[in-house]
Order: sequence, then structure tokens, then C-alpha cells
Amino acid sequence: MHTSVGRQPYDVLVVGGGIIGLVTAWRAAQRGLRTALADPEPGGGAARVAAGMLAAVTELHYGEQTLLGLNLASARRYPAFVAELEEASGRDTGYRTCGTLAVALDADDRSHLRELHALQRRCGLESEWLSGRECRRLEPMLAPGVRGGLRVDGDHQIDPRRLADALVTACERAGVALYRLAAERLSVARERATGAVLADGTEIVADQVVLAAGSLSGRLAGVPAEALPPVRPVKGQVLRLTVPPAYAPFLSRTVRAVVRGSHVYLVPRENGELVVGATTEELGWDTTVTAGGVYELLRDAHELVPGITELPLTETLAGLRPGSPDNAPLLGPTALPGLLLATGHYRNGVLLTPVTGDAMADVLTSGELPDAVRPFTPRRFAPAPSPSPVPEEQPA
Ligand code: GLY
Repeated sequence: MHTSVGRQPYDVLVVGGGIIGLVTAWRAAQRGLRTALADPEPGGGAARVAAGMLAAVTELHYGEQTLLGLNLASARRYPAFVAELEEASGRDTGYRTCGTLAVALDADDRSHLRELHALQRRCGLESEWLSGRECRRLEPMLAPGVRGGLRVDGDHQIDPRRLADALVTACERAGVALYRLAAERLSVARERATGAVLADGTEIVADQVVLAAGSLSGRLAGVPAEALPPVRPVKGQVLRLTVPPAYAPFLSRTVRAVVRGSHVYLVPRENGELVVGATTEELGWDTTVTAGGVYELLRDAHELVPGITELPLTETLAGLRPGSPDNAPLLGPTALPGLLLATGHYRNGVLLTPVTGDAMADVLTSGELPDAVRPFTPRRFAPAPSPSPVPEEQPA
């Protein structure tokens, strides 16, 4: 294919215009870097599907305490981040400091939730155990069978679609050049990333390239094997319902549970939207919304909040989370000079948006990741050097 060279060399080219690519480009431009971003549909991607829970405490898992530190650091940045982004873009992001209630429906769920509570307390996190009656007093639409729950007032929510739209506007206003085309191939010269070739053959030249293409990050042609991120797509089906004004307030905070081993959550927005998620499916690139997926979500949500079946079902969608081998993101330089990653955020992309933007701007300007982000270097997945051969014993 004929390749023409783009108009000017940039300091940074971001490949991927989901919320992670956008926040990286916005923060880089704010630091004075000439920044370009390539994506056929900036503001699209997994954020169009995500519910937008900022669930550092209620989504805590055993063995993920290092990730917890990053999640909490990002949650703390959220209020200032939202204020700055709304000011910069002139757009509302739907950030809502409503808290979360995680509930149990049977004895197994309750012991699971008790264990989560103990882990949260060992980690110094704020969460309060409530009886079933106390849960229903907070949220009267909950099923009479709810056996207990955890009140976590610090786990909030944002509307990821509005967040993405605000980031697109903030990027435009900060002078980011948006190329509404897919990047098809990384350009490499003298063992260094030098830009990318877009779908129309234009080559964008840049000193540094950030690969932030979510679950697609492992598929950019031209990336050498040792720098290729080990991300995979993890399907999530999500429903959107509408709470008619006569039913409001249906729920006043995020309500979630583990029902028969599956996570279900209901996220009520101020505009009447109620998001119900999500399946977790290892099915490659499949984004089909299935009858089974919708059935399981509605069945589990109905057990928690029986009145949900009265609401209009307005949207069904499936998205692909960028899963990584340890469920944590890959942030910073790779084995290929000039190529950095901001991907692999798995279940926490929306939550980790503020800290990712700041960390990527730091590393793009100084070459160094901030201390709190060093554990998330992509180099943690580098193959171990092969051991030096043991000399064979000589026969006596
Ligand atoms: N963080 C919610 C999800 O990935 O489903």
C-alpha cells in the first residue's frame, strides 16, 4: 500500500481512543507534548458498555492487594479529576457520590460477604456490616429475602459514556490531533518505535507511541513479540433499563451481589437509567448478546430487586474487557524503545482512568513511572532469562 507521511512529527502518538487512550492524550497535551491519537471512533470501545462503578472496595479480591493500592489512589483522585475535566470540556460526566450496598441472598452468599468484609478490614478499608432489615431500610426495593449486606459509602459511580465524550472534547480543546482512522501497523526503525501507519496509508511519525487499544492491544501489526501485551478479550453483557419518574427513586445507590457464583450489579443514574451487569465470558472476540446472558442477568437482578421486571428494557450490549494475566493494567515502557503501553485494565478501566492519565503523562515527560505505578510495568511479564547451561559432569 502507498504510504504518505503525516504532516508533522509528534512527540506522542496514542493508538486507541477509548477512555484510557483519551486520558493519556489529554494529560500528555496538557504537559506541552504535541500529541496525536488514532482511532476510527474516539470515545467508543468498552466504555460505551461499562456500568461505571468506581468499586475499589466492593470489587476487592484475594491476592490483588497491590492492585487495590492503585485502585484506591485513582478513586481518591476522582473528585478533582472530574472537576478539572468538566471545566476543560464544559460537559457533565454523571459522577455520583452515591456509595454501594453489596448484599447476600442466602447462607453461602452471606459467608462469602463476611469473608470479603474481613479482608476489607484487614486492608484498612471502610465498610459496615448491615442486617437484612437494615439493608432494606436503606433500599426499600430490595427483596425480603436479603440476609445481610455491606455498606460501602466510598464506592461511587460515573457515566462512562459521558466520561468518554468529555474526554474527546477535552482532547480537542487541548490541541490533540484526532485521526479518525485505525492504526494498522507500528512503524519501527533502528530498533525503535517511530509512529504508526493508519488505515488510509498515512504514516504518523512520533517520538513515542502509546498502545492503548484495550482488548485489541495485542493485535497491532509490527509490534515485536517481546513488546506485545498479553491482553485478551473478556466478554461482558450489560443491560440498560429505564426507571419511569413515577417509580423514582427506585434505588439510591449501586446494589450488587454474588448470586450462585456470578456477579450482578444494578447501577442507578440520576437521569433514570438503570444499568444491570455483567456476564464474564472467555469467548474470544464474540460480542453477541445472547438470550442466556440476558436471562441470567435479569434472573439474578430480579432475585435482588423483584420490581425490576416492571421497568422498560431499553438496551442490551456486550463489550470486551482487556484482561491481563494478573487482572492488573500494563503501564509504561516496553522492551521496544519508544513504545509504551496503557492497557490491560480488565474490570477497572473506568476507576483507573485518572491515575493512568497522570502516570502516563509522567512517564512520557520524564521517562520514569511514578513509584506507585512501578509494579504495573509491562516488564513484569518479560520471559525469564534462560538459565546458563550446567556443565556436564565428566566421567571419572
Ligand atoms: N467492573 C465491572 C465489570 O467489569 O463487570
